[in-house]
Amino acid sequence: MSQIESVLHETRSFPPSEAFRAAARISSAEEYERLYRESLDDPEAFWGRIARELPWIEPFEEVLDWSGAPVARWFTGGKTNASLVCVDRHLDGPRADKTAILWEGEPGDVRTLTYAELGAEVRRFANALKARGVKKGDRVAIYMPMVPELAIAVLACARIGAPHSVIFGGFSAQSIKDRVEDGGCTAVITADGGWRRGKPLPLKATVDEALVHAKDVHTVFCVRRCENDVDWVEGRDVWWHDAVAAADDDCPPEPMDSEDTLFLLYTSGSTGKPKGIQHTTAGYLVGAYLTSRYVFDLRDDDVYWCTADIGWVTGHSYIVYGPLANGATVVMYEGAPNEPHPGRFWELVQKHKVTVLYTAPTAIRAFMKWGDEHPAKFDLSTLRLLGTVGEPINPEAWMWYRRTIGGERCPIVDTWWQTETGAIMITPLPGVTATKPGSATRPFFGVDAAVVDEEGNELGPNEGGLLVLRKPWPSMLRGIWGDPERYRETYWSRFPGLYFAGDGARKDEDGCFWIMGRVDDVLNVSGHRLSTMEVESALVSHEAVVEAAVVARPDELTGEAICAFVTVGAGGEPSDALRDALKEHVAVEIGKLARPAEVRFAEALPKTRSGKIMRRLLRDIAAGRETVQDTTTLEDYSVLARLRGDEE
Ligand code: PRX
Repeated sequence: MSQIESVLHETRSFPPSEAFRAAARISSAEEYERLYRESLDDPEAFWGRIARELPWIEPFEEVLDWSGAPVARWFTGGKTNASLVCVDRHLDGPRADKTAILWEGEPGDVRTLTYAELGAEVRRFANALKARGVKKGDRVAIYMPMVPELAIAVLACARIGAPHSVIFGGFSAQSIKDRVEDGGCTAVITADGGWRRGKPLPLKATVDEALVHAKDVHTVFCVRRCENDVDWVEGRDVWWHDAVAAADDDCPPEPMDSEDTLFLLYTSGSTGKPKGIQHTTAGYLVGAYLTSRYVFDLRDDDVYWCTADIGWVTGHSYIVYGPLANGATVVMYEGAPNEPHPGRFWELVQKHKVTVLYTAPTAIRAFMKWGDEHPAKFDLSTLRLLGTVGEPINPEAWMWYRRTIGGERCPIVDTWWQTETGAIMITPLPGVTATKPGSATRPFFGVDAAVVDEEGNELGPNEGGLLVLRKPWPSMLRGIWGDPERYRETYWSRFPGLYFAGDGARKDEDGCFWIMGRVDDVLNVSGHRLSTMEVESALVSHEAVVEAAVVARPDELTGEAICAFVTVGAGGEPSDALRDALKEHVAVEIGKLARPAEVRFAEALPKTRSGKIMRRLLRDIAAGRETVQDTTTLEDYSVLARLRGDEE
């Protein structure tokens, strides 16, 4: 593949309204161009100035040290602390009594925390961590529902300099075990349960199962949320409320070097086990801070709601670190979007007078399907800006979002970025950019994005190719935990000197980027990255399965759905019962989000002469397409015919 053909020809364009533009933080194309040029031509001046807007315990000496490329060092010599940036900096002025977190549980219970209250909770829990022996540099795993304690836990870890590793609450015990082991975590923070569609999700029980053989974990903190029964390991388990009741609220922030690790966050790659993406302190915060400020145009009277879970990078950067660094009021919601009715999100927007809403295309497509009557029941007139993230948004969903939720008045920021980039990289600036349905538009400040061919040559307008970033940026990952070689190999070896994002893209004649999805074996299901290889290993770990190949097929709702082709051994017979058992097996091994939408039994899988499974052929079959691909390397042609015949 040298070029990727783009089939989307979208010509609509929506400049911001005059009213929005006039009040926006960046309100003219000239100002954007000037800042963008400066950020590329003189990154030291640009990023140095932005970084100095944040509090420092000791000032930095150098803005960027790229001599150890591809491992960047930003703001070297400086010391700060993420909790200082996100909480303490707001405590001396009027923001102390401003709402920091406005939380609603699935059952409808509401809790608000002012910045002053958030600060006290963070300091108290930081002391609780210390009292159990957690110290600077220790890794802490967090497996929690979307309750305020999750944000508090993250900031408390940051306060004492213990890198957190948040594991999404939908992952299985096996996935927790792998992540806890890989990160060498010594403490875990969880809850008895979290409300999901009216039922408690038993998080503590899943943690217990994951930790059966984990000798290194000395403490499990448990928040009481659902009051469901839990098992208790004496000596290891501590109730959150007991620990904070015994802790005082005086806890100075640990001075962290700019390059000290702030957190690990695991994400799927095409091969091997999940990668512990490593982010450090100052550069990450500067990126999260600046993007929140300009992309969401945040101001003091905004009520900002990002619907992601803190278990994903979106929640790290745009629920916790970015908006709090800006002193915003952040809405947090625990439960499902259709509990107890399909209008729950819109009810929340009305009730809490949300002004900025950031969500995912998969959610937008679900809302479209549930029908316009649900948002129509609620007053959405407080909304002034909408955002999307996680996967390409189809123009139809974009237009629906604009019309039905945004009342044709709210700009939409379609933001492209990754766990690895830490912060938004390609995005409209809402007061400046003329948006186009389906395009993430232009690179953010400091981002030098390009579309290249297989040899790394930049392609011309509208030619599809591979998306690369040509300059280091402050919030970039610093590595893969414990595996510096894999870091180089995955991101920097394909084109020396260029960061390879793994996405296909084209850039149009106006310089707008159109992301065309992953080019590696990574699936994007409901905006979450999953590796085909992990799902395949889960399948072959089932006794009946000999071989498995997993591909994505387009899905109206989830973007991509998992289609698994499996061959069974002598012990197994293809049957509906086995099909269901295999789906369930993957859900147990990895988590429900990885459950295949479809399992197809095959006598054999199409392979090249060298034995590699030809996934591109399977992709066509899964999507019900005639193959137009080159099949000359296929070992056994009859396999393809039989797979197709199987389709009915
Ligand atoms: O393929 C791109 C897609 O999601 C990938 C990153 O996934 P993850 O690290 O889980 O982070 C998701 C949230 C930042 C990207 O490589 N992606 C993300 N945002 C967009 C997108 N694809 C198209 N348009 C987007 N706005």
